[in-house]
Amino acid sequence: INVLSVASEAYPLVKTGGLADVVGALPRALAPHGVAMATLLPGYPAVMTAIPDRETVASFDDLFGGRASVVRGRIDGRDLLAVDAPHLYARDGGPYVDASGADWPDNAQRFAALGKVAAEIGRGATALPAPHIVHLHDWQPGLAPAYLAYGGGERPRIVATIHNIAFQGWFPASLAPALGLPPEAMGVEGVEYYGGVGFLKSALYFADRITTVSPTYASEILEPDGGLGLEGLLRARADVVSGVLNGVDVDVWDPQTDPRLAARFSAQDLSGRRVNKQALFARFGLDPAGDPLTFGVVSRLSSQKGLDLLADAVPVLIGLGASLALLGAGEAWLEERFRALAAAHPGRIGCVFGYDEELAHLVQGGCDALIVPSRFEPCGLTQLCALRYGATPVVARVGGLADTVIDANPMALAAGVATGVQFSPAGQAPLESALRRTAALHADRDGWRRLQANGMATDVSWSASAKAYAGLYRDLLG
Ligand code: ADP
Ligand code: GLC
Repeated sequence: INVLSVASEAYPLVKTGGLADVVGALPRALAPHGVAMATLLPGYPAVMTAIPDRETVASFDDLFGGRASVVRGRIDGRDLLAVDAPHLYARDGGPYVDASGADWPDNAQRFAALGKVAAEIGRGATALPAPHIVHLHDWQPGLAPAYLAYGGGERPRIVATIHNIAFQGWFPASLAPALGLPPEAMGVEGVEYYGGVGFLKSALYFADRITTVSPTYASEILEPDGGLGLEGLLRARADVVSGVLNGVDVDVWDPQTDPRLAARFSAQDLSGRRVNKQALFARFGLDPAGDPLTFGVVSRLSSQKGLDLLADAVPVLIGLGASLALLGAGEAWLEERFRALAAAHPGRIGCVFGYDEELAHLVQGGCDALIVPSRFEPCGLTQLCALRYGATPVVARVGGLADTVIDANPMALAAGVATGVQFSPAGQAPLESALRRTAALHADRDGWRRLQANGMATDVSWSASAKAYAGLYRDLLG
């Protein structure tokens, strides 16, 4: 089966979050299942320089305001396609925002171009063989099936995966002509969404199958609180909506071989964790005296992640004699809150602000428990890494967090299957009791070891989910 996967990010070329990890991992995960997946990305500078030997497979005289081509290359054995359109992508700054943090003013055109190229490849109008399936990720390539629907010709099957429904790609209706959308597209049975052009709406309206990254999130998005405006459409299409859990790259995240750790370890021999914990204390300026229970956070700083709840709960955390190592990048107000907490509790609260892939590994390998207090979480990857690294996850019971951590409630403990701590709802008081519960569990040495062993034995790889995607593709092709 030939699949064209289309997204705005892929690890290791361009990443702002878990979307990139997933898009980057899928080709290799699916290969053993008879799926040949090529990945189509916007030709950001980092993407173009990563493809030294380029072959041009299509060209466009005018792709939303300039000449463009599609180039093909191979990176680490993966088939990569990039939209080489300097007028849209050759700029310094992020994939979505400029250096000052403002959205690029032409984001509608920038991502319409990605969808347009996906549609052209999908209909077999380039030098590439037409794929059987076009697999769209999030809102950015969402106009692809609209271009296919209104452009005529062959149409591949379409799968749309929602990684985060909070980002919907809404633009004013006045842009429709400039985006090459015919008047008939601007209706409920089309791309129209709350009076404008909805990129994600388009993907979800036209897709043959809709997936999201966990079964619980698949049901949450059918409700107004979770669907954020798209619940009506999703309910009408509920028969084609399903959840497939993300995995992590277990070669990159392997505590037995991880070069980014201070010391390596395994479920059989955890002694390396002590070395990592010392390194963590040093890196985050934490006081090692008494070897306190140490919580870790690896996160984007945004209200989705609920870290303001954790900030509110810091007095309880301190009262338990615990410490906190936080690695986070994102919104300034959250950074300021934690900066103030670190100043108020020197040696107890340590923060590193920024995006640091390397340090993320040390936090996972050195902290005792990883806190993920998200208000919503489509899947979440950090709790999966935590399980694999023997850092007990303490998570809000939402989305993929609910599906991947087994709460240490009395029955799960008695059955010997618990892997972490869940709390609900995502609020200050429930989080505080989760911190207390974690401290009590940690005080029981053997019980804690058991939690760690269960977590480390959990399969967080892609194997089950790759099989599920391959099954979904086969099903779709009949
Ligand atoms: P989201 O995509 O919503 O940010 P995920 O948990 O799915 O959440 O994925 C986050 C990814 O980004 C993980 O690979 C995690 O390790 C990484 N990450 C998040 N914040 C940081 C940070 N400050 N430094 C390094 N890695 C980070
Ligand atoms: C999004 C979600 C996160 C998910 C990731 C990859 O960024 O916020 O929960 O793990 O996509 O699917």
